[in-house]
Amino acid sequence: MYTTDQRPHFVQTHLTDPGAVRAELQAGLLATPAQIAPKFLYDALGSRLFDAITELPEYYPTRTEAAIFAQHGAAMARHLSAGSVLIDLGAGSCAKAARLFPVLHPAGYVAVDISVDYLRDALGALQQRHPSLSMLGLGMDFSASLAMDSAAADLLHTHDLQAAPRTVFYPGSSIGNFDPAQALILLRQAHALCREGGPGGGLLIGVDLVKPISVLEPAYDDALGVTAAFNRNLLLNVNRWLGSDFAPAQWKHKAFFNSDDSRIEMHLQALGVQTVRWPGGERRFAAGESLHTENSYKWTPVAFEALLHEAGFGSVRRWSDEREWFGVFAALAS
Ligand code: AVI
Repeated sequence: MYTTDQRPHFVQTHLTDPGAVRAELQAGLLATPAQIAPKFLYDALGSRLFDAITELPEYYPTRTEAAIFAQHGAAMARHLSAGSVLIDLGAGSCAKAARLFPVLHPAGYVAVDISVDYLRDALGALQQRHPSLSMLGLGMDFSASLAMDSAAADLLHTHDLQAAPRTVFYPGSSIGNFDPAQALILLRQAHALCREGGPGGGLLIGVDLVKPISVLEPAYDDALGVTAAFNRNLLLNVNRWLGSDFAPAQWKHKAFFNSDDSRIEMHLQALGVQTVRWPGGERRFAAGESLHTENSYKWTPVAFEALLHEAGFGSVRRWSDEREWFGVFAALAS
């Protein structure tokens, strides 16, 4: 048995305010058309259902991206700074980043997720496999802001990681769940984060690409109905936060490609007239009326490269699968 040199350190910089969550949900339910942000898809059951989605034959992004990393990881590492601090956005199980450690040789690893509790087990296990690597778990809502607060910055400083080059890692095509304006804001913040570590910073990001509708739509409306369950489960999560009385069986899952906006839209459609009530409010839905739950934007390589340039990045390179269904982009911050 060996002893570890390091232990992962954790800091939670963002705490959910239940009153603000209820206000956000209520505003979305009273809007026309009604909408609920996709973050409400991810309670404990929703996260498990998403993991199941990634195993479905129709859902190509996860396995396509994994194959691109496996085949081209070494070339990506050559394009980015060796020995940088790897900042993993939405790290979850930390598995995708860990598979790149042998080629990226990071000087430190910072796993960011909405709650540090999601990171504790994964980061603890990873530390056993990489005993001398500095590892930090940051609980923060990076979709709101990527700026490191003072507690996070202090932690980086304590671990001597404040002034090392930074590689921001954002796999999984989660950038597609932001509209182009929000995506640009997030990428600009990622750029600032890279620059804070000094020269040599960069970004490694997975992006789902435009492809035939016959491939896109089944990926979001699979034969087993797992994505439908994932979408409807959002209603149970909303019931818990808001005290509302959504009956999931009264809502039909809808997913279609909106080619004008280049995005898959997920909706829940009322199967009949219904009134949803919660403490302090209600919303009547007509039969067939829809509640918009998620957008998943699909980018062309040219448009995404332009977005990276607009965010301040340069030296952009892309690796794709043979069918050009998915792109992994590496870009430098200076
Ligand atoms: C997390 N995100 C990248 C997924 C996507 O493809 O937009 C979420 C998802 N929604 C339905 N299926 C998967």
